[in-house]
Amino acid sequence: MRSDMFYRAGTAVVVGAVAVFLSAGSAGAGQAVMVDGDDIGGVVSGPDGPEAGVWVIAETTDLPTRFNRIVVTDDDGRYLIPDLPDATYDVWVRGYGLVDSEKVRTPPGSTLNLTAVVAPDDAAAAQYYPAGHWLSLIEVPGADQFPGTGPDGNGISPNMRSQAEWMRTVKSGGCTACHSLGNKATREVPPELGEFDSMVDAWDRRIQSGQAGGSMSNGLNRMGRQAALEMFADWTDRIMAGELPEAPRRPQGVERNIVVSQWDWADPKAYLHDEIATDKRDPTVNAYGPIYGALEASADYVPVLDPVANASSEIPVPVRDPDTPVAAGPPLASSPYWGDEAIWNSQSNVHNPMLDEDGRVWLTSRVRGPQNPDMCLEGSDHPSAQAFPNARANRHGDRGDDAGRHLLQHAPPDLRRGRERHAVDQRRRAGHRLAGHEDVPRDR
Ligand code: HEC
Repeated sequence: MRSDMFYRAGTAVVVGAVAVFLSAGSAGAGQAVMVDGDDIGGVVSGPDGPEAGVWVIAETTDLPTRFNRIVVTDDDGRYLIPDLPDATYDVWVRGYGLVDSEKVRTPPGSTLNLTAVVAPDDAAAAQYYPAGHWLSLIEVPGADQFPGTGPDGNGISPNMRSQAEWMRTVKSGGCTACHSLGNKATREVPPELGEFDSMVDAWDRRIQSGQAGGSMSNGLNRMGRQAALEMFADWTDRIMAGELPEAPRRPQGVERNIVVSQWDWADPKAYLHDEIATDKRDPTVNAYGPIYGALEASADYVPVLDPVANASSEIPVPVRDPDTPVAAGPPLASSPYWGDEAIWNSQSNVHNPMLDEDGRVWLTSRVRGPQNPDMCLEGSDHPSAQAFPNARANRHGDRGDDAGRHLLQHAPPDLRRGRERHAVDQRRRAGHRLAGHEDVPRDR
C-alpha cells in the first residue's frame, strides 16, 4: 500500500458563509434573529450570559443521507442555521469550555434559544479539543539526537537526518497522511486491544492492526522502531495519567460566519480517499451537481452524492480481468474493530476522480494486473512507447458519461493516441499522470 493514502469517514463537507447581518459588530448587533421557514435560529446563553464563538449543530437522519449543518454564534450568542432541507433536526451546542448540550428536536422555521453546558472540569472540556492540540503534547527527541545512531545507539534510524525529518514522518509525510493523531482512538489505548506488560508493547501491537498494519509498521521501522515506540508510549502514558493540552481559542471574527454542511455517504467499511465537485480549472462547472468520490483500496464503486436531494448512489467499477489483484493485503494483526476480516476488498482501486468542462467524470482505476501490453514496451513501434516505454501501470483510465451515471470503461484501442489527448492533458495539468493505455471511446 502507498503512504499517500488517507482515511476519512465517508463524509462530504461543504463550507459556505452565513448572511452578514449576523456577523460580529454589524448594524444588526443586539437585534433578534430573523428566522425563515427553512432556518433554525436563536440565542445561546450560558451561566454568564450569551455564549460567543460556539457551534450550533443541526443533524437529521430523516433524509436519504445523514445530514448536518453547523454554524457559530456571534458576539451576542446569536446563531442562524440557514436553508435547511425539510426534516426534523436534533440541535445542540458544542464549544471550547463546554460539554455538548442536550439535543433538542425541532423542524426548521422555529426560533430556538439554547443553553450551553459549561464543562465540569478541564479534562471534560479537553475531550472536544482538536486532535492536533493533543498531538502537541508529544515530546520529540532533541535536535542533538539526529542523525540517529540506530538500534545499538539511540534507537533512531540513521536515515532520520534531522529532527524536522522525524516530525515530518509523524505528520504529513507519514502517519497523518492516513489519519489524524491525537483523536481519542490514537491518544488512548482501547481495552479491546488486550492486556500488555507495558505501553511500548501495546504500541508495538496496535500499529499492526488491520490492513494498513504493514504500512504503519514499516513507518515505525523507518523512524527507528524502538525510539518511535518509546516516544508514542510516553505520550499516551502521560495523557492517560491526566495531562491536558492548552485550551484552543474559540472562533473569532469572520471565522464565525462559516457554515459547514456534511453528508454521510458510501458505507461503514469504505474509506473516502478523495472527491471531486467541479472542473478545477473552472470552478463554476457542475454547480449543485453530483459529487464523485474515490474509495481507493476499500471498495469497487464510485460513491455519488447529490447535495440537493441529500441522496447518494453508487457507480460500480468492475475490472476487465477477473484475476486483477486485490489492492489491499490481509490484516497484519487483528483489528480491535473488525477482527481478522479484510474489510477492504477492491480490485479497481479507484483514485483521483476529475471533472472536465462538460461535467464528465474521469478517473484512474485498475482493469487488470500491472503488466502493460507489448505495444507499450521498449522496442515497440508505437510513438508513445518510443518516447516513454512503460512496462508497468498500477492504474488505468475510466470516463463517465455526462451525467456520470455509468462508466465508459477501458474500450480499445490505445489511450496514447492523439484523440484522447484532452483527458491526458487535463490530468497532466492537474499534476496527475494517466498511467495506463486502456482507451475511452471517441466522441469529441
Ligand atoms: C496506510 C495508512 C496508514 C498509515 C501510513 C498509518 N496508519 Fe495508523 N491506522 C490506519 C488504519 C486503517 C487504522 C485502523 C486499523 C484497524 O482497523 O484497527 C490505523 C490505526 C492506528 C492506531 C490505532 C487506533 C485505534 O483506533 O485503535 C494507531 C495508534 C495508529 N494507527 C498510529 C499510527 C502511527 C503512529 C502511524 C505512523 C507511524 C500510522 N498510524 C500510520 C492507517 C494508517
